[in-house]
Amino acid sequence: MSSTNTIALDDAYVRLSKQSVDVLEGKKALIRVDFNVPMTDGKIVDDSRIKAALPTLEYLLKNNCSIVILSHLGRPKGKVVEELRLNAVAQRLQELLGRDIEKLDACIGDEIQNKKKNLQPGDILLLENTRFYYEETHNIVSFARELAQHMDFFVQDAFGCVHRAHASVEGVTHFLPSMMGLLVEKEFEALKSVFVTKKKPLTLLIGGAKIDTKIGVIRNFLPIADTILIAGGLANTFFNAKGYDVKESLVELDKAKIALEILQDAGEEACQIMLPRDFVVSKEISENAKTRILNRKANEEMEDGEKILDIGPDTIKRFSEVIANSQTVIWNGPAGLFEYTPFSEGTKALGKAIEENPNLTIVGGGDSIDAIHRFGFDTTKFSHISTGGGAMLEFLEGKMLPGISVLKKHKTL
Ligand code: 3PG
Repeated sequence: MSSTNTIALDDAYVRLSKQSVDVLEGKKALIRVDFNVPMTDGKIVDDSRIKAALPTLEYLLKNNCSIVILSHLGRPKGKVVEELRLNAVAQRLQELLGRDIEKLDACIGDEIQNKKKNLQPGDILLLENTRFYYEETHNIVSFARELAQHMDFFVQDAFGCVHRAHASVEGVTHFLPSMMGLLVEKEFEALKSVFVTKKKPLTLLIGGAKIDTKIGVIRNFLPIADTILIAGGLANTFFNAKGYDVKESLVELDKAKIALEILQDAGEEACQIMLPRDFVVSKEISENAKTRILNRKANEEMEDGEKILDIGPDTIKRFSEVIANSQTVIWNGPAGLFEYTPFSEGTKALGKAIEENPNLTIVGGGDSIDAIHRFGFDTTKFSHISTGGGAMLEFLEGKMLPGISVLKKHKTL
């Protein structure tokens, strides 16, 4: 079995960075970004995704383009949801760019088309949440055509969404010369390097709650990873499959067969899968929770009502050693319920080990990034922090990403 990648890892995709300046001058750029930022009470909690889009927006402005920005926020399922309007995003973008931005309350219609028609160099319009329209997620052609109307070219800069074949991600590319923006190019190059350089030892640290979303990545890495470290709720499904009673822990009972298959395939591929040996258990999830440490290998059993909520000190030590000795580390998903202090040690320690590794280190997924910020890690010490959660996983799975594959040999300006 060899690791697959249906994404062509060559130079076949059209890139904004490769366009000549004369060609861009004064054009109207339609850009898809991923401003799906975490919000609490109408306030943006983390603006990293907005900051990540700035280089492309500034590049377009430098070339005297006018810009129409498209983004989704949340999952409003084709209806207007007041809390999911892009007003706070517009405000923050305006502050970060230091330029006026006109936020409109729709994506299509006469008023929008008129504004687009009359755009002047340097003008910036931010349209409303694309997912207020049923047509967006269903990739309806007429909607994509309207989004593209009056524009000269399309820039794909929403790395977090390139796994979605939606109208503003994929549909519009059928109506305009299309290319990847600077963020998508950066993400693409960083993730590609894992497959191209294959610097060994290569370690994949996978955590988080569910096996479902991670299974494809684990399988795709069996032939190329030297070690796969499994932590978080995901590990419980493996313990259960191996016959350890995880009591009240989060577990996917119906995934036992898959877990056993993975362990068997790993043996055939000479990839070492490491599961936690010890863990932190508790009967309650709170800041004052009473905890104890159990060692599965020492046949210590859980009591009724207990849940596994973090990895234990022995596992932290073993996993950290593997990370320290790796030339490539890819991290997606926390080791425990790190939002609570009693269950945060595992994620903090493994994140620290990755931060201290000077080699190729790639991190993705909302929770891992949240952990990086929460524990105050130096973001510059990681080789690449991806803005994509699902998109990064699907890339690493070797899946075809509609928002990127459509840019292959695309018509240029
Ligand atoms: C993300 O947050 O991963 C992207 O914005 C995609 O969002 P979605 O999973 O709702 O498509």
